[in-house]
Amino acid sequence: MKCFALLHIASLILLFLLVADNTPAFAAVDFIYPAPSTWVKSSGHMIVKFNQTDLSAIRVTVNGLASDLIDVSSPEYRKLFRDFFIAQAIWDSGKNSVLIDLFRGGQKIESAHADFFYVPPTSSLLPPPEFTPVIMHKPEKERLCISCHNLNPKREQMNSNIEKENPCVSCHKNILAAKYVHGPAGTYSCAYCHASEGKPKHAVPKQGAALCYECHADMSVQINKRKYIHGPIEAGMCEACHDSHGSQNESQLIMPINELCLSCHGHIRTQTHVVRTTSGEGHPYKGKPDPAKKRTGKTMSCISCHNPHAGDVRYYFVNNVDDRLSLCQMCHNK
Ligand code: HEC
Ligand code: HEC
Ligand code: HEC
Ligand code: HEC
Ligand code: HEC
Ligand code: HEC
Ligand code: HEC
Ligand code: HEC
Repeated sequence: MKCFALLHIASLILLFLLVADNTPAFAAVDFIYPAPSTWVKSSGHMIVKFNQTDLSAIRVTVNGLASDLIDVSSPEYRKLFRDFFIAQAIWDSGKNSVLIDLFRGGQKIESAHADFFYVPPTSSLLPPPEFTPVIMHKPEKERLCISCHNLNPKREQMNSNIEKENPCVSCHKNILAAKYVHGPAGTYSCAYCHASEGKPKHAVPKQGAALCYECHADMSVQINKRKYIHGPIEAGMCEACHDSHGSQNESQLIMPINELCLSCHGHIRTQTHVVRTTSGEGHPYKGKPDPAKKRTGKTMSCISCHNPHAGDVRYYFVNNVDDRLSLCQMCHNK
């Protein structure tokens, strides 16, 4: 059914698939998602629709890096997936300039160009004012897809744990392609958190701690008993560290643990932390095995000493004792 080709352009991995649609339009190419001059906060799909029927090939150039020619002339291909191009994009941080060249019989006939702006998670980049936010699930866009995709599923379908029966998963399986997948996302229980009546459509009506504590109520009790609560948790910003669907890091952290902590506490990188060691640096927090009994098999990191959520003592020491020396003794006993 599907027609795939994997391309590697340094900054863009394309997985393409052309689909039939006969809506008349006038530009050489319509950038459907992201729309031209919009900004995105994740590297999702790039979807364009050609308004030329007899193309032989296309070429996609992202930030000056050109793909090979992508053949779009095979009859099976045309029959099933005529004039859409759907790619899995991996955007560069900041501005991304995309050029699409259309070929007929080996001759370049037309080109189309659009700029997008990518703001990666926890980045302090601000999209310039000429870029507006982007939304896929709007009637005028969904109209192009409904002949093949169910965009108005019932709640049971949105929660179906059978891939073929869950329309959300058929388009969004990329967000589940992670090493550590969050429980309810892994069982395709999209409707636990997403709602068709969300604004925009399919959005998550409740976010942050209010959403997470619905299922992690025990944690809310534990955290709220503590005297000191870590800044972002106090603010209910669970997603500042955890991805709701999954990631390559344990506990679905949005970045490797030390990078995550240092993204907000960058000064630890440059100041000698805890002690000045013989090498003149601060206390090691990476690359060495963690000697604490509770963390056998793990590597030293910020959470070897700090609880990421809360504690009864300042700095949320993991042993929860207000005595710096007793923290040291957890690992330096003798
Ligand atoms: C002619 C039928 C057809 C139309 C129209 C269509 N699609 Fe698809 N699409 C498919 C098929 C078939 C698949 C493969 C489904 C699968 O793997 O389960 C697919 C898969 C996808 C995927 C998943 C790609 C991946 O990551 O593996 C996305 C995203 C997608 N379509 C988006 C859209 C959007 C957005 C529209 C409307 C702008 C659209 N499609 C219109 C047939 C179509
Ligand atoms: C036809 C394919 C398709 C189907 C079906 C689909 N989506 Fe999407 N959705 C997309 C695309 C494409 C985007 C743009 C982001 C991306 O590239 O993944 C998107 C974006 C979103 C967003 C971000 C807000 C927005 O509108 O841009 C949410 C939230 C979302 N989808 C949830 C859902 C949920 C929940 C379901 C099931 C009810 C669903 N989607 C079904 C294709 C689809
Ligand atoms: C535990 C709750 C939860 C579950 C379960 C869940 N999501 Fe989400 N999802 C969220 C939250 C929260 C956001 C908003 C993140 C943000 O705005 O930064 C989101 C955002 C999204 C987006 C937009 C992503 C983007 O990068 O803009 C898509 C697409 C999406 N979810 C699809 C799904 C699909 C498909 C399922 C089912 C397989 C699912 N979600 C299950 C909580 C959940
Ligand atoms: C619909 C119920 C539900 C919601 C809502 C929910 N979770 Fe979960 N969560 C689970 C389940 C089920 C598991 C897997 C079982 C377990 O390990 O507890 C899980 C596991 C986790 C884990 C991994 C636990 C581990 O031991 O590795 C983290 C981290 C997590 N959730 C964070 C969140 C965050 C952050 C939110 C809010 C964005 C959230 N959860 C919302 C049900 C939910
Ligand atoms: C500052 C980053 C950060 C924030 C914000 C954060 N977490 Fe965590 N969370 C972590 C880290 C790091 C771990 C892994 C702890 C470990 O492995 O010892 C974790 C572990 C978890 C776990 C699984 C292990 C456990 O302790 O039960 C759950 C569930 C969880 N977090 C839920 C939440 C919820 C709910 C929120 C919002 C109220 C939240 N987190 C906010 C960093 C964070
Ligand atoms: C999203 C930003 C953010 C992330 C990510 C983050 N923190 Fe924080 N952290 C804060 C804020 C805000 C405060 C409270 C303000 C302050 O005291 O600096 C804080 C406070 C702290 C404190 C107490 C500082 C004091 O002087 O009392 C410690 C210790 C700490 N964080 C450790 C960590 C660790 C360890 C991680 C990684 C698991 C982490 N933080 C990740 C934002 C963050
Ligand atoms: C070996 C244990 C240990 C490790 C590992 C560790 N810390 Fe600390 N941290 C401490 C102690 C002890 C303090 C209390 C102040 C002091 O004694 O220097 C502290 C204080 C802090 C503070 C508040 C004081 C300040 O300088 O702002 C922050 C923020 C902090 N740590 C973040 C981190 C981050 C981020 C990491 C990982 C990159 C990390 N810590 C790794 C033990 C540790
Ligand atoms: C979670 C375990 C842990 C805790 C808690 C801990 N350390 Fe360490 N510490 C280590 C590890 C692991 C090393 C690296 C040992 C090696 O190089 O093999 C280390 C190394 C050191 C070194 C020698 C560094 C060098 O190479 O010169 C000093 C000094 C030190 N720690 C002091 C402290 C002090 C002071 C505290 C309490 C504030 C503390 N440590 C808390 C695990 C810990």
